[in-house]
Amino acid sequence: MLNLDFPEHRTSRILITGSNGFVGCALAKRLFALGFENLFLTSSSSSKLDFGSFFQIDFSDTSALVAILSEVKPECIINTAAISSIEGAFFQPEKALEVNAFAPELLARYCAIHRVKLVHFSTDFVFDGTHTAMTENHKENPISSYGSSKWLGDKFIEHCCNNHVIIRPIMVFGEKEEWQRHNFYTWLVQALQKNDSVNITADQWRQPTYISDLVEAVLQLTFSNATGLHHIAGADYLNVMDFARKIALSFNEPEDKLNAMDTHVLGTPEPRPLASGFDLSKVQKAIYYHPKSIDKAILHIKNGR
Ligand SMILES: NC(=O)c1ccc[n+]([C@@H]2O[C@H](COP(=O)([O-])OP(=O)(O)OC[C@H]3O[C@@H](n4cnc5c(N)ncnc54)[C@H](OP(=O)(O)O)[C@@H]3O)[C@@H](O)[C@H]2O)c1
Repeated sequence: MLNLDFPEHRTSRILITGSNGFVGCALAKRLFALGFENLFLTSSSSSKLDFGSFFQIDFSDTSALVAILSEVKPECIINTAAISSIEGAFFQPEKALEVNAFAPELLARYCAIHRVKLVHFSTDFVFDGTHTAMTENHKENPISSYGSSKWLGDKFIEHCCNNHVIIRPIMVFGEKEEWQRHNFYTWLVQALQKNDSVNITADQWRQPTYISDLVEAVLQLTFSNATGLHHIAGADYLNVMDFARKIALSFNEPEDKLNAMDTHVLGTPEPRPLASGFDLSKVQKAIYYHPKSIDKAILHIKNGR
């Protein structure tokens, strides 16, 4: 991966939406650490970060979003805000459309008019879970309200604004902030340390993305000439049970605390894709992206990065 500190961009006015969230917070913290001076942040609840100019906003409120854009006048927007779970979108389908599709459309229109780059987060859940090694040309076929709402957002952006990067990560994992919801890694570590035994899906296959690799890749894509859709994932494609085993092993926890289950037994309101893996050629070529193996990522987390 390139190793640049983006000096020529440090004074740019950058709007990061979803800054309390797992990905948005990690991006905001990395930019702040790099010395970026003009960070503007949004979330739907009050700010958990002690830097940047913060706006609390519900993305369903279009006029509030327009007002923030007029006030901030961003020179780059990184949009991580989303109803980001299957359950969230299933129980609030209209809200999911507003936040995951119509708000991104509004951002894209702003970016097109003002010649601003839009970096937007999509998801691997736009696919149906029947393929792996999927390229950016793979045909979407969402099987949940979450996946459909996110795919609609992608289509709006592609239609409205040429200067965009759309990033599709898979199962992002890593250390989280105290206030954030668990990701697979933090959930499992906490459960194992409490001595709980846990149910793990044994029929799902993923290519998990380490948050730290994702953040570096997103910044490279943001501050380069790259545009368009980019699939981003980790180095390893594996069964979720094997991912869990690697985590348990790294904490010297016995494997027998992991109960293998089929997804349908665990029960979710809508189906999850069973298989999800990407061909990373495009992003590798664009920014020399070389993600860590899962074993190295776990070590990286345990060594405090
Ligand atoms: N995490 C993954 O494994 C993964 C995988 C594939 C794709 N993605 C995509 O990556 C992006 C970031 O995901 P994430 O894991 O960081 O999500 P997250 O932790 O759930 O964070 C979502 C952010 O969006 C904000 N938000 C939620 N509802 C909102 C609303 N109505 N109006 C305005 N803001 C709202 C949240 O604000 P509050 O926290 O203040 O409520 C939070 O800051 C999303 O687009 C997601 O679809 C994530």
